[in-house]
Amino acid sequence: METNVQKRRETRSLRVKVISLGNAEVGKSCIIKRYCEKRFVPKYLATIGIDYGVTKVQVRDREMKVNIFDMAGHPFFYEVRNEFYKDSQGVILVYDVGQKESFDSLDGWLDEMKQELGSISNMESIVFVVCANKVDLTKRRVVDESEGRLWAESRGFFYFETSAQSGEGINEMFQVFFSSIADMCENGGKRPIAEVNLGFTKEQADTIRRIRSSKDSWDMLGVKPGATKEEINKAYRKLAVLLHPDKCVAPGSEDAFKAVVNARTALLKNIK
Ligand code: GTP
Ligand code: MG
Repeated sequence: METNVQKRRETRSLRVKVISLGNAEVGKSCIIKRYCEKRFVPKYLATIGIDYGVTKVQVRDREMKVNIFDMAGHPFFYEVRNEFYKDSQGVILVYDVGQKESFDSLDGWLDEMKQELGSISNMESIVFVVCANKVDLTKRRVVDESEGRLWAESRGFFYFETSAQSGEGINEMFQVFFSSIADMCENGGKRPIAEVNLGFTKEQADTIRRIRSSKDSWDMLGVKPGATKEEINKAYRKLAVLLHPDKCVAPGSEDAFKAVVNARTALLKNIK
């Protein structure tokens, strides 16, 4: 006969499903292996379709049984992957900091997932964590921390710098990931919203992104080539108010602010 203690423990235990997403070769399987098996395999063994594993973790007074579905990143496996999106409580989104394309693909991965889930509202009850992986390879890094953090945090996702090779960030990432999933389950399926504590607006995030990708100083200030001094100053003031480091804590705001100051100086120099 079951004792009350056994029964209580069972009601406190949780079963969850998490998936990994991201381009091929970014390190999804290695991140999971580093956490579950405490080891790193340098040789690339592409995941064929899906790898499945289960691990038990303790979150506060709860035991969590985590079913991990490690997806293959190669487009070839789309037909296999698409079956596995539904009923996930957590997503590990991975890119390689030395491969810009893998960072630019993150939106595409969200789109694929949204398409399979059929409705955006379903995405609200999922915890997302973004791993900027392979940070040990510092010389080949092309996507900096502020760029990755901005992408993640402006969507209410967690952001971690990780290395499956050295282990950096891996345990911290999984701890936050699992405890947030537990919080969400206790909260009736609502994601603990990181946006509440974000401290920056979507307009600020979008502006920083626009500044980063602008092609010249005119474009950066959002004025037409040949704009007058007044037009330049007006555009500058608007951006300065939005991005001033005293006012804006969005990742990358300081660099964006400096770039705007430099753009204004360069344009005004040519006018005189
Ligand atoms: P698919 O299964 O094809 O989608 O790839 P994946 O994202 O699972 O990549 P995987 O984990 O197999 O790793 C790809 C390659 O990157 C392997 O050669 C790994 O050894 C290497 N790798 C993964 N993580 C790291 C890391 O943090 N640092 C370094 N230096 N190499 C890594
Ligand atoms: Mg893999």
